[in-house]
Amino acid sequence: MAADLNPIDKAKYVAAKRAVDFVEDGMRLGLGTGSTAAWMVRCLGEMVREDGLQVTGVATSTRTAELAREVGITVKTLDEVKWLDLTIDGADEFDPNLNLIKGGGGALLQEKIVATASDQMIVIAEPAKEVTGLGAFPLPVEVIPFGWQTTKALIEEVLVNLDVLGRSTSLRLSGEEPYRTDEGNFIIDLHLKRIANPQQASLVLNQIPGVVENGLFLDICDIIVIGNGDGTVEVRNINDGTVEREKIEILEGDNLFNLS
Ligand code: 5RP
Repeated sequence: MAADLNPIDKAKYVAAKRAVDFVEDGMRLGLGTGSTAAWMVRCLGEMVREDGLQVTGVATSTRTAELAREVGITVKTLDEVKWLDLTIDGADEFDPNLNLIKGGGGALLQEKIVATASDQMIVIAEPAKEVTGLGAFPLPVEVIPFGWQTTKALIEEVLVNLDVLGRSTSLRLSGEEPYRTDEGNFIIDLHLKRIANPQQASLVLNQIPGVVENGLFLDICDIIVIGNGDGTVEVRNINDGTVEREKIEILEGDNLFNLS
């Protein structure tokens, strides 16, 4: 039952529950990836099953697609839907301008394609993800497996000329093997500590031939919903400059796990 959640899950749940208030009947939705986004998918599923909400979801990973189908959401490909009304996703870091680092869960490429193909992006997160400047969270960079060691060396070379505090890089592993994205690519995590100029970093990294995409989401997010363990949320809209705070009511009957 949603009422029995620990504070971390409660924070994620209330952020997700507030975010799905922005969803309207008939919308084409980008469905993010990660533990916070999974709450959003469950909340949406509940609205589909119990309120008859009709939406079409485009998932940003195979795990999200599986969960969305399981909870009753119609899932289509981006090529079928082509453009989206709204994407709701989590983030690893957000700054005061709602620029983000994403990709901790390894889905940054589909997440960026989907968010960019959306009229609006809402991010759901806990307060611990807020930073004054991006970079404490390692920046994920998706690379083609072919020649990845050369690509890693080229990344390290361009980092020398970027205004960052750390310059070490590591290949992401899954056990003993390189972690594979849904596209079969590898991820190199950049331990930069502080990125003074994210726009420049993003451009420079994406110019390296073996790099597919990086986890900097700049000028993409419109609204952030920050959930707290006490059940309150803060909704910040970067476009109109508004900040709203409210308490989300968790009903005993909120049952996100019983799908029948
Ligand atoms: C996946 C992501 C996630 O949105 C990000 O890692 C946050 O995940 P969580 O909600 O589990 O903290 O970018 O690629």
